[in-house]
Amino acid sequence: MSTPSGLLYDSHQRFHNYLRISLIEKCNLRCTYCMPSAGIQLSPKESLMTSDEVYEIARVFVQHGVDKIRLTGGEPLLRKDFGAILDRLSTLDASLALTTNGVLLDRYIDDLKRAGLRKINFSLDTLNPESFNTITLRDQFDRVHSNLQRVIKEGFDVKINAVLLKNQNEEEIIDFIELTRSQPLSIRFIEFMPFQGNAWDQSKTVSLASILKRVEHFYGAAQVERLQDAPNDTAKNYKIRGFKGSFAVISTVTNPFCDSCNRIRLTANGKLRNCLFSDKEQDLLSALRSGVSIEPVIQKALQLKKAVRAGLDSPETFEDYHTHQSNRSMIKIGG
Ligand code: GTP
Ligand code: 5AD
Ligand code: SF4
Repeated sequence: MSTPSGLLYDSHQRFHNYLRISLIEKCNLRCTYCMPSAGIQLSPKESLMTSDEVYEIARVFVQHGVDKIRLTGGEPLLRKDFGAILDRLSTLDASLALTTNGVLLDRYIDDLKRAGLRKINFSLDTLNPESFNTITLRDQFDRVHSNLQRVIKEGFDVKINAVLLKNQNEEEIIDFIELTRSQPLSIRFIEFMPFQGNAWDQSKTVSLASILKRVEHFYGAAQVERLQDAPNDTAKNYKIRGFKGSFAVISTVTNPFCDSCNRIRLTANGKLRNCLFSDKEQDLLSALRSGVSIEPVIQKALQLKKAVRAGLDSPETFEDYHTHQSNRSMIKIGG
């Protein structure tokens, strides 16, 4: 790895070694918690990063100490040049990871292997075909399910991301955990978060506390083991004693984990975001295109980073849905 320079520290002494790159704004599903029902205004094609630009920006970050790059979307596998982007990024000294809805995964198994990408976070909110249609508004459950089995069989390091919604898939918590009885999977339950146009309401969020209560009630508290979290982990990890896999909760709403934040985000149109919840973006792509150094832009983004959730640190401000309307919708951030 390159020697970390000071560039990637923010003013709260957090070092940002994890770059999340959104490759595309489009998606082949319409998950109601992510895609606004009115749709989104797509950026003009010419304002999206080309594969060369993605590589060039990533190269600068790696030079300064980024050692983990996650590709996100929209749905990153919809990008026609995904294989080529992957090949270029695999030449950098950073581990590669992917967050995908899995619909197109079977087409890319060889590309992922060639690039040495082993870590796949698989967004799947239900194990029930009918609920899948209700949540995603697309009839793709069979494909997604068979691609999930395929990547597990192929030995990828798979985590399932399930956004929990009150009265929709909350009842499936135990079914998901049962998958970990004999499979080396991590199931991560995600608290539903507020973004522009996703009709968020605190009452629809299933909290860390209520998830644990349900799990302890079913398996018995003594069977639920708290695991050591990885450094900078977004998730609080647990397992049921004796099970092969584990489960976790990503509790941004009720228990934020910002003190260990090491993440910086690049949107598909080349804007740098210092936090999921910040509407202040730095225009990295324009700097790159005008031939000036992008380092000062990176520095500015990090200097402006707030300690907690873009400054929405009290539950009252965070839970006011209106405060999130100037932020992007989740589909245009990439998670
Ligand atoms: P790992 O690298 O496997 O730990 O994955 P990850 O959690 O960093 O990324 P993933 O794309 O799988 O995201 C899972 C969920 O965590 C999504 O709902 C993201 O929005 C959320 N998430 C990811 N990074 C952050 C972050 O920096 N802050 C907050 N609050 N949530 C995040
Ligand atoms: N709240 C929580 N997680 C979300 N994701 C998308 N929208 C939301 C939301 N409103 C998740 C996706 C994907 C990850 C990148 O972010 O399910 O797994
Ligand atoms: Fe980092 Fe912002 Fe997420 Fe907190 S909410 S962990 S500061 S990206």
